[in-house]
Amino acid sequence: MYATVVKRLLFLTGNAGKLAEASHFFEPLGYQVEQFLIDGEVPIVGEPQSDSLKDVAIAKIEQAKALFNQTGQDAAIFVEDAGLFIDELSGFPGVNSASVLNQIGLSGILNLMSETINRGAEFRAQAVLFTGDELVFGEGVCRGSITSETLGESGFGYDPIFSPEGEDSGRTFGQMNKTEKEAFSHRGKALESIKKQLDLLGR
Ligand code: IMP
Repeated sequence: MYATVVKRLLFLTGNAGKLAEASHFFEPLGYQVEQFLIDGEVPIVGEPQSDSLKDVAIAKIEQAKALFNQTGQDAAIFVEDAGLFIDELSGFPGVNSASVLNQIGLSGILNLMSETINRGAEFRAQAVLFTGDELVFGEGVCRGSITSETLGESGFGYDPIFSPEGEDSGRTFGQMNKTEKEAFSHRGKALESIKKQLDLLGR
């Protein structure tokens, strides 16, 4: 016998871009996506020093579960860890994508790659949803290339310098709307995987 369908989804993130993309994905499926806040603030959770997005995501969801239990609410909770891994930079900035972007910006990445011919890179995402009973994991990888200049103003983070494989005209994520980006993106794939598992669970 399945538990009641979960319709409220609390996303523990301080990243407005991720929140917007998760809402874009889940809301047409009947979920109400909200930022996970306690007393109006995104709770600060510790992140282990790890090269594994999955380890980081598990650490975050465990802390989110503990915080959530104190609220007495009924909702699913969700976390997602992602990063950009550049081939010629041995996977840099990887799990440190957020802090590296803060420190050196897109121009810093483009400068690091100014002489680089191999522009291959990939975004990876690890998402975890806690239904209230079980953890559901979804992973996604999006191969692509780093452009030589910033293109477009949509999205967030590294979007203006990343063009996904299969985008024949070479547009970056920064030149796409959410629906277009989702069709290629690491996040779209991770969320699609979670959706399929929720369907199997009858959620
Ligand atoms: P974290 O998952 O919160 O640790 O942050 C990952 C960082 O990777 C973000 O702050 C962005 O800078 C970058 N990132 C992750 N996903 C995307 C994406 O879809 N587009 C652009 N940048 C991204």
